[in-house]
Amino acid sequence: MDLNEKKIESRLSGFLIGRKIHFLEEVDSTNTYAAKLVQKGATEGEVVIADCQTRGRGRMDREWHSPSGKNLFTSIILKPPVNPSSASQMTLMAGVAVAELISEFCPGRVTLKWPNDVLIDGKKVCGILTEMKTKGDKIDYVIVGIGININMERLDFPEELQGSSTSLKEETAEHVSRTEFAAGLYNYFEKCYHTLTAEGFDSIRDRWMKYSGIIGREIEVRGRDSKKRGRVVGLDNIGALMLYDEREEKSRILSGDITVIGD
Ligand code: BTN
Repeated sequence: MDLNEKKIESRLSGFLIGRKIHFLEEVDSTNTYAAKLVQKGATEGEVVIADCQTRGRGRMDREWHSPSGKNLFTSIILKPPVNPSSASQMTLMAGVAVAELISEFCPGRVTLKWPNDVLIDGKKVCGILTEMKTKGDKIDYVIVGIGININMERLDFPEELQGSSTSLKEETAEHVSRTEFAAGLYNYFEKCYHTLTAEGFDSIRDRWMKYSGIIGREIEVRGRDSKKRGRVVGLDNIGALMLYDEREEKSRILSGDITVIGD
C-alpha cells in the first residue's frame, strides 16, 4: 500500500502534528475514532489515518465517499487555547494549509469555498469537518477531519458527484503518493497552526482571503431551515462570513452552504 506511517513520520519537519499516528486499514470515521482516542488520553497533535472509512461523515450529516486505496482520510487532534466561539478559525486554518499544499501540485488553480471546501478549477477536491467538545467556557478538544481525493478517477466518484468533484490525479494526470501528501499536509498544518496560536487569526485570514474567490461576489447561503442572499465583504475576527444583505445591512453568517450567484 502506498500509505506508510513510518515513511510519513520520517518526512515530518515539525514536532507536533503527526508525531503520533494511529493508522487503520478500515474505520467507521476517523473523526469518531479520534474523539474516542481523546477520551482515552490522546494528546494534541496525534492523528488518525485510515485507508478507508465505512461511515465517512461530511457536514450537515452528509456521507463522505471513502473507498480504499485511493484517498486520504485523516483527523487531527487539537487542544487550542482559544474560546469555543473561535473554533471555526480551525476549519479556515486547515483550509489554508490544504490550499497551500495543493497549490504546489496545481499552481494558481486552487480556491477556498467558505467554510470548508478546497477546490481545483471550481471542483471540490477536499472537505474539512471540524468537531469540538467544550469544558465549561473553554475548548476541551477540537478534531479537524480532512478528506482529500488523491488518486480517484472520474468514474470512481458516485455519478452525482462526477461533475462537481475531482482528485489530484484527475487534475495533474499523475499518480500522487499518499504518504508524501500526508507528510506534506501535517507539515503545512503545523506551520499554520503555529501561526494561528502564536500570532492570532489575522495572517491566516489574509491567506484565506487570497484563496477565496468570493469577496465582493453575490451569494446565497442555505442553512438547515434558512436562506439568505448578499454580497460578501470578508471574514470577521472569529471567521464568520460578513455579508451586505439586500437592504445593505451587514450580517454575519456562522454556518451554511453557499452558492455564488451567476456562476
Ligand atoms: C465536507 O465537505 O462536508 C466535509 C468532509 C470531511 C471528510 C473527512 S474524511 C476524514 C474525516 N472523517 C470523517 O468522517 N469525515 C472527515
